Amino acid sequence: MSLAVRTFDAVVVGAGGAGLRAALQLAEAGLRVAVLSKVFPTRSHTVAAQGGVGAALGNMGEDSWLWHMYDTVKGSDWMGDQDAIEFMCREAPRVVYELEHYGMPFDRNDDGTIYQRPFGGHSMNFGERPVQRSCCAADRTGHAMLHTLYQRNVRARTQFFVEWMALDLIRDAQGEVLGVTALEMETGEVSILQARATLFATGGAGRIYASTTNAFINTGDGPGMAARAGSPLEDMEFWQFHPTGVAGAGVLITEGVRGEGGYLLNKNGERFMERYAPNLKDLASRDVVSRAMATEIKEGRGAGKDGDYLLLKLDHLGPEVIDKRLPGIREIAIKFANADPVKDPIPVVPTVHYMMGGIATNYLGEVVAPAGGNPNALVPRFYAAGECACASVHGANRLGTNSLTDLLVFGKAAGDALIRFLAANPGTKDLPKDAAERTLARLSRLESQKGGEAVPEVGREMRRIMQLHCGVFRFPDTLAEGVRRIREVADRATRTELRDKSRIFNTARVEALELDNLVEVARASMVSAAARQESRGAHDRSDFPERDDRNWLKHTLWYKEGDRLEYKPVNLKPLTAQTIEPKVRTY
Ligand code: FUM
Repeated sequence: MSLAVRTFDAVVVGAGGAGLRAALQLAEAGLRVAVLSKVFPTRSHTVAAQGGVGAALGNMGEDSWLWHMYDTVKGSDWMGDQDAIEFMCREAPRVVYELEHYGMPFDRNDDGTIYQRPFGGHSMNFGERPVQRSCCAADRTGHAMLHTLYQRNVRARTQFFVEWMALDLIRDAQGEVLGVTALEMETGEVSILQARATLFATGGAGRIYASTTNAFINTGDGPGMAARAGSPLEDMEFWQFHPTGVAGAGVLITEGVRGEGGYLLNKNGERFMERYAPNLKDLASRDVVSRAMATEIKEGRGAGKDGDYLLLKLDHLGPEVIDKRLPGIREIAIKFANADPVKDPIPVVPTVHYMMGGIATNYLGEVVAPAGGNPNALVPRFYAAGECACASVHGANRLGTNSLTDLLVFGKAAGDALIRFLAANPGTKDLPKDAAERTLARLSRLESQKGGEAVPEVGREMRRIMQLHCGVFRFPDTLAEGVRRIREVADRATRTELRDKSRIFNTARVEALELDNLVEVARASMVSAAARQESRGAHDRSDFPERDDRNWLKHTLWYKEGDRLEYKPVNLKPLTAQTIEPKVRTY
């Protein structure tokens, strides 16, 4: 079958914060840029980011990028690469001021500077006490950021392909990436978007779990496509549980609530975080708070008739502060928990929120894969940024606000790296004859398969297995069983039947194609988790309760081919700062 081919300098897949920031860089440099998005850009999942973007501006008191770097390394439980972390923390103020100049409506202090609030794990003077580092627009920071970046892209004449889903990466015999195949959801037509360079910014994959703060669109499309095209996925065992998802609904309640002075209580009215993190208490890092909450519930101190949630108290902040700083939270709590926080505590539970791993990149957003003895060899013409990428700055546990910092810093850096590459490598490479083969094979299987299971059934089973076998606490037997069962599900996913075969805006077809990506992410996560024999950050194993730097200070690389693992060392060497040496992590 011959497919329509559209040709660009750069194709960006995903129109969240990272995709829009990268596209802006490219369009302003005069390149022909196509941005593909499954949803209208301002509905991308960045819109749900609430609490703020971390940058050491020092507007509320003394701060320094070096302290931000220290907190991020410690937050990552020393799993983050220190060159990338230094780069992010140094660049953070610059990208925030850029956004301010683009017109982002940040909250303001009386002197006109950007208001900053405290957030978990962020401290002054290397862990001494909390610092106010999160630059925010009330509790709708992601919303404000997406609108600002989208408008700026429209001005720069970025070309958007809205309600288009990228299906597969195109690589030639030399391994160079030459664009993607993509589905126009409205018509069901498949085309080739040929590009001199391709950038993935597809966001997270929280939808591999049953309970998540993530949007339905977060189906790991970038990692899925990269894995099918032979790229390794890095550190997929590390999944963040956000401490405060609304119990029973999964909707995010920002950590900014605790930043503004809210705190957690168990059923006895005890402020239990004082026992688990005597220094930072409710503002300890997320893995620590989530584990503490899970322990409280497990030991019978959870609230409610089933004792399965905890209480987030903020009424003492008063209606003025709540309405000024946290208006979205009040609305969410009323709608999803029937609790008005000006008088009632919000019922909350740890909920899957963020994928620390992803497509392996360096700190310039260039995709890397071991080759010829070099663990960080570049995959030519391929870039990734934001949650779908692993730079790796978050390591085993991300600090709140560093996701927005990551997508701005690395979206811009990846754009810059791509611009430099295209300037040095003019011309468009020819597409290989089999450019669309993988996609056409997937589609033809979907169209022809009869008598298989329904896609939603297999998806439901995958989410159940991930939730039960790869949660806050992990056990050797459930992990081993999880590997067996998730491999079974991945196999079942290749034999599903698409009952409605129509093409025009067939969301069932899209869901089937998304499942291909989800199962790759789920399998990578479970297999990587079962193999890591230590506890570090968000990966907590009952049989290996300690961090083991001697054997496990290394990144996991999962390959789809053979469902196999390799490892590469964590980079402890920053760009200019001194190494932050591993030590015991307490808050
Ligand atoms: O709690 C929050 O507002 C989430 C922020 C983040 O994940 O960085």
